[in-house]
Amino acid sequence: MSTPADERRSSLHGEWSSRLGFILAVAGSAVGLGNIWRFPYVAGENGGGAFVLVYLVCVFFIGLPIMMAEVLIGRRGRRNPVATMRLLGEEEAGVTYWRWVGVVGVATGFLILSFYSVIAGWTIAYIFEGGAGEFTGAGPDRINEIFSSLVSTPLLTGFWHTLFMLATVMVVVRGVEHGLERAVRVLVPALVALMLVLLGYSMVAGNFADGLRFLFEPRFDDLTGGSVLEALGQAFFTLSVGMGAVMAYGAYLPEKESIAKTTAAVVIADTCIAMLAALVIFPIVFANGMDPASGPGLVFQSLPLAFGQMPGGAVIAVLFFLLLTFAAWTSAISLMEPAVAYFMETRGWTRGRAATVVGGTIWALGFLTVLSFGPWSSLTFLRGTIFDNIDYLSNNVLLPLGGLAIVVFAGWIMAVNSTADELDPAAGRGYRLWRFSARYVAPVAVVLVLLNAVGLF
Ligand code: PFF
Repeated sequence: MSTPADERRSSLHGEWSSRLGFILAVAGSAVGLGNIWRFPYVAGENGGGAFVLVYLVCVFFIGLPIMMAEVLIGRRGRRNPVATMRLLGEEEAGVTYWRWVGVVGVATGFLILSFYSVIAGWTIAYIFEGGAGEFTGAGPDRINEIFSSLVSTPLLTGFWHTLFMLATVMVVVRGVEHGLERAVRVLVPALVALMLVLLGYSMVAGNFADGLRFLFEPRFDDLTGGSVLEALGQAFFTLSVGMGAVMAYGAYLPEKESIAKTTAAVVIADTCIAMLAALVIFPIVFANGMDPASGPGLVFQSLPLAFGQMPGGAVIAVLFFLLLTFAAWTSAISLMEPAVAYFMETRGWTRGRAATVVGGTIWALGFLTVLSFGPWSSLTFLRGTIFDNIDYLSNNVLLPLGGLAIVVFAGWIMAVNSTADELDPAAGRGYRLWRFSARYVAPVAVVLVLLNAVGLF
């Protein structure tokens, strides 16, 4: 007898051309500014060592089972995250309120992309700074000046942010299956190859020993409840989980593909790239007497110093920031996809209209971040600047809460038959391990980290 889920399988959407296509799209979503810009600076702010360890635990024991939950939910529902959560909520529990998980996810995507696009804009600006030879022979003070003068000029950062959003909307209008697979297939390997070259430089010219010690020598005394939450938030952010982005992509995953293998491949690749970035950056930071806790400017202030000293540095700088821009682009596309799919499927809008309205709104929101690094930089409340607050709310509050809801839904609300049907009909050891993580490990850990961070545990 065919079930509603069976019927949906053959209907509705386009599909990725292959398992590789799906892996590439999710990898394109996961690998981005989170690995190369955010991971090193957040690790730096939280004292390295112990933070990195907690981060790795969060990625593999919490992020991975949640990513699997998102993909299986997405593939079973075959719709945008709001409609999928509503539909499966009805199917599994007879209630519609699970749609709110999708709604909050869509809103989180707006918030994240609003600052993500601005940072991607800095990256574009740095392609030109590098190409113009600005870094050549420059010392820490000059590099610092280049960064500060860029981010404090809203006209410039606003311009690059606008360009990045336009480029993102253009791709989303065409539909995510087109071109994305092909682009990621070239980009991610190219980015990794270039980073390996930079790693070679860091090992020779940087203070590699201090970098390693900073990253891998756990100093648990430095670890606070706040930094554990930072590690959790970074794990969600870097894996793109907790807001339905991976769920939206899962909706296009062919039925026969193994969810466990594909997600594990992405999680491992994403983690290696983040580690690689940190291994490149910190030796340069220590060799030049820079502060590892200097914040969001870290990658923009450390790498250019290295580019300025190495032979052929201007070309390498252009290549690096170009590849980073592309990596950010494939992530930005996935940040828009849940909202765009929602407005298309639920409101009947065309893809063009949905992408334009969603993109336009995010673009406008982005000016909060643009200004918060410029004229509004002294306007601080709660967590700091407006950017700090948007970043904290989305990564440390909304993504963990969204991830929690998703994994509770998959582990506790969905029937074993339904989840096993997607993950492993034989319900073997791997499946039981996932289910144990989804029911106990991930939800309990997320709740404890959240309670701990607000001082209740
Ligand atoms: N994972 C992306 C990165 O590390 O840059 C950012 C991101 C993309 C977060 C998509 C969330 C998301 F849904």
